Amino acid sequence: MSDLTIMEFPTPRNGQNSRCDEHGDYPTYDEFSRPRRCPKCDARIRRSRHLKASGIPTRFWLRRFDNYVASTPSQQHALTVARGYANHFEERLNDGGGMILTGVPGTGKTHLAVAIVRHVIDVHGHSAGYTTAADFFAALKATYRPDATESYADVMKGHARAPLLVVDEIGVSHGTDYERNALYDLVNSRYAAYHPTILVSNLGRSDLAALIGQRVIDRMSEGGATIVFDWASYRSEATNNLSLAKGDKSRAAYDLDVKYAHSDGMI
Ligand SMILES: Nc1ncnc2c1ncn2[C@@H]1O[C@H](COP(=O)(O)OP(=O)(O)O)[C@@H](O)[C@H]1O
Ligand SMILES: [Mg+2]
Ligand SMILES: [Zn+2]
Repeated sequence: MSDLTIMEFPTPRNGQNSRCDEHGDYPTYDEFSRPRRCPKCDARIRRSRHLKASGIPTRFWLRRFDNYVASTPSQQHALTVARGYANHFEERLNDGGGMILTGVPGTGKTHLAVAIVRHVIDVHGHSAGYTTAADFFAALKATYRPDATESYADVMKGHARAPLLVVDEIGVSHGTDYERNALYDLVNSRYAAYHPTILVSNLGRSDLAALIGQRVIDRMSEGGATIVFDWASYRSEATNNLSLAKGDKSRAAYDLDVKYAHSDGMI
């Protein structure tokens, strides 16, 4: 105890505050007596960078829990489980528990998966990734080209790094041994680092198990959950992506995200 007291951080050189026009006063010096920028602006820029690096296609950025319409008990259940998973993400980092979203196309699997990624970035401040299965396999296969700059292991590591990864659109075309093994490698190396993975597929749960192998499903189910989306497609209601974006009440917040993610800000 007495040894530790020697390690106290140096106090700031003076008690000065700096002022951010948007967020007000903040201490000018950090605990190492280094001058710093507004911590809230810094955090926002960091979140925007995570968002931009996440791989979420820009047109999906608006998909959040608060604009997921849950008018039936099954939809409410899906929303509650997805939101609960996102809210308790810090606990998921203790067990590496992932999640499986399966079922009918157009029911909002990608919407909720993206909402989870956004929440982990916006609220928990972690980096989080989104990829389609096809893009992931294409990145792996590109490592076999003679002019490849990345190895298979590099691509795996790149996909294992973020505390959360969504692998979307796992479909019937992904059933080769190569792809099955690659998916297992990915889920497994992420699991070993306590980094949860969310798998999303239009297949039913048993078809998905047959496709990607029970060992992947077993890994995913430890500490995680499965949501089955078995209601009618929402696509006809969702006119198109652009009008959803324009009509959304958080359009201003979206514009801010876009602005900051595309600005080459500080840090
Ligand atoms: N319950 C819902 N509330 C609001 N929008 C929804 C809902 N379900 C789906 N959508 C929207 O419908 C479109 C298709 O949903 P998507 O998430 O791509 O479905 P899936 O990934 O299951 O095929 C998207 O624009 C999505 O935002
Ligand atoms: Mg989808
Ligand atoms: Zn600020």
